[in-house]
Amino acid sequence: MAWKTLDDMDLDGKTVLTRVDINVPVENGKVTDATRIERIVPTIKDILDKGGKPVLAAHFGRPKGQVVPDLSLRVTLDALRKALDVPVIFADPNEKPNKAWVSALEPGQVLLLENLRFNPGEEKNDPAFAAELAALASVYCNDAFSAAHRAHASTEGVAKLLPSCAGRLMQAELTALESALGQPDRPVVAVVGGAKVSTKLDLLSNLVRKVDYLVIGGGMANTFLAAEGVDVCKSLCEHDLGATALDILKAAGEVGCEIILPGDVVVAREFKAGAESEVVGVDACPADAMILDAGPKSVERITEIFGQCKTLIWNGPLGAFEIEPFDTATNAAAAKAAQLTRDGRLVSVAGGGDTVAALNKSGAADDFTYISTAGGAFLEWMEGKTLPGVAALEH
Ligand code: 3PG
Repeated sequence: MAWKTLDDMDLDGKTVLTRVDINVPVENGKVTDATRIERIVPTIKDILDKGGKPVLAAHFGRPKGQVVPDLSLRVTLDALRKALDVPVIFADPNEKPNKAWVSALEPGQVLLLENLRFNPGEEKNDPAFAAELAALASVYCNDAFSAAHRAHASTEGVAKLLPSCAGRLMQAELTALESALGQPDRPVVAVVGGAKVSTKLDLLSNLVRKVDYLVIGGGMANTFLAAEGVDVCKSLCEHDLGATALDILKAAGEVGCEIILPGDVVVAREFKAGAESEVVGVDACPADAMILDAGPKSVERITEIFGQCKTLIWNGPLGAFEIEPFDTATNAAAAKAAQLTRDGRLVSVAGGGDTVAALNKSGAADDFTYISTAGGAFLEWMEGKTLPGVAALEH
């Protein structure tokens, strides 16, 4: 890898500006899922163990350069203190970033800065704001892979101003992703699901060139089926993308990537929990019904392919997983991936907002080789794009 890690840095007595992603879900003033906070613990602990003083820099929500009190990072303090088990001091939001904050830090303490996006310079990647942040520290550590698709002052600008390295989570994310799409063991299968083809066009175009099998699920599959002349009736479908879907199928055929679309489907007249549903062949959707999940034969085919592959990369559910019983295909395929991973036969990497929620719900997530904490960054990386926050760490 072309970037340094914490192992390459002398941190003794040094202040380390540490970019983390603690953009966590919050309800009624409480963090409802602390996963992203828990995942930065190894980095902070390593910095403390090496005698460094961590200054945490992060964003929360999208305040667009304004001070929005509801988006203060103060809300994460309790969860941070619990996860880190050390004192976490909140920098006075009424002051500009200043050295006095850092001088007041005792060994073993951590400083948390207020939401960087309250300052318009953050998202503009303003060199003056990057310099303000850099002035606080003598080393920069980026542990926010999930914000690395943003070229902001704290993810990109500051990396050029200080000796920089990747944190442990960043390192783990990049290593896992490299093993899934960079230099994977073949054959490789990708599962791409979710509602819309329009949000995943670049992703599909990149993947057909990289993987041996591409399983398409969710509402996206309907767009492909419709393009092939199947009547998907009341199903979610982007009919205007038919030509694009055919282009993707053609491109896949040219490079020997096999695309797997559902052969049978679960249909219902209503999209609600416990709605009456039936399994039909893909060409037999009743006129007043919609496709909400892949059927058992499709799942059998998908799991058979998983069994033949050495690497799996997964983004997006196979059906409308939020509502039972339309989570059945996602759960069954996830269970098979988990079992093959446990048996040491498959490297399984998954990421993207809905994907993590779906795999957690299925109970299979813990057995996957790696579950990324990233949403948009994971997608952009799967699209083959350069992530500015990663590129800036390269020397
Ligand atoms: C995320 O939640 O995916 C990251 O924190 C990035 O947030 P953003 O999409 O607001 O830049």
